[in-house]
Amino acid sequence: MRTGVLGGLLLVAAGAGVQAGQAVDLTSRLVLPAMSGRDTYSYFCASCHGPDGRGDGPLAQELRTLPADLRALAASNGGNYPSERVREVLTHGRAAIPAHGSVEMPIWGPIFRALDPSDEAARVRIAGLVTYLGSIQSR
Ligand code: HEC
Repeated sequence: MRTGVLGGLLLVAAGAGVQAGQAVDLTSRLVLPAMSGRDTYSYFCASCHGPDGRGDGPLAQELRTLPADLRALAASNGGNYPSERVREVLTHGRAAIPAHGSVEMPIWGPIFRALDPSDEAARVRIAGLVTYLGSIQSR
């Protein structure tokens, strides 16, 4: 998991305009001011899951497990978008079945809290992501 998180965050840092070798406060660059689900998605998720959620982001080939196609979460759950499960996976990972947890899908609750030490902000970000992912389901 560490490699995945690091890879994702480094890519995010690159996207935020951080140059190699430049002395910058990385932490502040890693905090995204915008809280909307779409912005949060583009910033933190598109590197692996792709701009449209297809699972074809630039980091996808580097992973052993392909990132999920996030437009198919409803389809693979009998047509119902599993918002509660998505919230749980984003916040805590798949703790209920650790053996099935991916080593490459970052657990976002602690990451958002580390970047912006506010439980409320982390909850708002994750709620925004859950809503955004619900909006991109292909029927
Ligand atoms: C470092 C790459 C990477 C990043 C960044 C990443 N993911 Fe993932 N994600 C994965 C991989 C790999 C899987 C597939 C895991 C598996 O099936 O074992 C996955 C799976 C998922 C799933 C499906 C989980 C399930 O149980 O069906 C969701 C939902 C998800 N990601 C949402 C997100 C969101 C939202 C973000 C941004 C906050 C994000 N991911 C960022 C790699 C990543």
